[in-house]
Amino acid sequence: MIDLEGIKRTFSAHYARSATHVVRSPGRVNLIGEHTDYSHLPVLPMAIDRATWLAVAPRDDGRVRARSQVKPGDADIARDALDAPVDAPWQRYLVGVLRELAGVAPGAGADLLIGGDLPTSGGLSSSSSLSVGLLRALDAAWEAGLDQRDLLRRAIVSERHVGVEGGGMDQTVITLASAGAALRIDFLPAAERAVPLPAGLEIVVAYSGSEAPKGGSAQRDYNERVVACRLAAAVIARALELDVKAAHDPEAAPLLGDVAFAAGGADALAHVADGLPERASAREVADRAGVALEPLVRLTTTSFPADDAVALRAAARHVTSEAARVDAAERALLAGELDVFGTLLDVSHHSLALDYKCSTAALDHLCTAMVSAGAFGARLTGAGFGGYALAAVPPQRVDDVIAASLRATDGPAFRVVASDGATVTSL
Ligand code: GLA
Repeated sequence: MIDLEGIKRTFSAHYARSATHVVRSPGRVNLIGEHTDYSHLPVLPMAIDRATWLAVAPRDDGRVRARSQVKPGDADIARDALDAPVDAPWQRYLVGVLRELAGVAPGAGADLLIGGDLPTSGGLSSSSSLSVGLLRALDAAWEAGLDQRDLLRRAIVSERHVGVEGGGMDQTVITLASAGAALRIDFLPAAERAVPLPAGLEIVVAYSGSEAPKGGSAQRDYNERVVACRLAAAVIARALELDVKAAHDPEAAPLLGDVAFAAGGADALAHVADGLPERASAREVADRAGVALEPLVRLTTTSFPADDAVALRAAARHVTSEAARVDAAERALLAGELDVFGTLLDVSHHSLALDYKCSTAALDHLCTAMVSAGAFGARLTGAGFGGYALAAVPPQRVDDVIAASLRATDGPAFRVVASDGATVTSL
């Protein structure tokens, strides 16, 4: 059983000392708004009742030791030697967090025990659950007193050190979610609001059978789409003769969200998307749109190759239509129109599969199986390229949908409940 007492006891047994704090940091399911966050267009995720649990106690020697019950390989990291190689891939998230905490509580270290019941195979945001949890645990153990927004910002940047140019949806919902509700997140201007889930709606998630390693092979595919969206934004701004700056950073390339804001809404971009070149490289776009090349290809730890052609027309079509589906899905939830909500999930999945090309045959098969078993609708959730799908399901069909998922892929498949965001308990 994973709970506060369990993680506390395991910490004491492993380190022969008591933990000072325990953190519960949930996973998330993104209901809709997939691959829109890094364009600063809206998303609608919820935190779930599966979580990473962390127990922590401070040290005074600048060493951070971590034992994970979830992934193999104990960590022992000196805060003043963060460039040293790590023993296991998951430890890169710990190093990313420590980089973002450089200068906070100098000289302090920590012992950490990491456990929980959140699957780590992709789609349920185990990496952001870990990053947010680590930041909350270290902030508490070091009595650093960083506020929640500051910790959230650091969590988002910390993961980009691992190499994926993520958008911020996961860390935001893991930090700010409330039980019984999804969280509508807007980035421009930044705002969040709880969207209560109506009676008669259950959420089932199911594993497709292949991992989606965002820290591994999916990394380039993901970053390629981040760049494709920037290129689409540059070409559309040029086509609409809009002089657009990136609201979040004047040095950065304007995003589709910035262009949508200037044009009066994502709808205003949708009709331009079809006129974009099917594929183009960043260098071609920079030349054609008369913008600087470097911000188009800059990633946190590296640069995307300037001469690699990427699929910008399909990317723009997916992202602008998906932003509109987030609005429609929120309205459907508030009105209790669950058939409409389900259809939006199906359409989102098809757009991700056909235009954004981030589904797999197993995810497609799984979604079809869940809908055939009575779901209102189903789609991949998270970055895709493997990992998990979700289904919106009437309560009386939950068992059927889980059984159909297990037949389709061997599972796991289970119901999830909208839960609160991360919490810290002082012991
Ligand atoms: C990953 C990223 C998020 C988001 C999704 C796709 O989960 O961490 O920021 O981009 O993919 O919607």
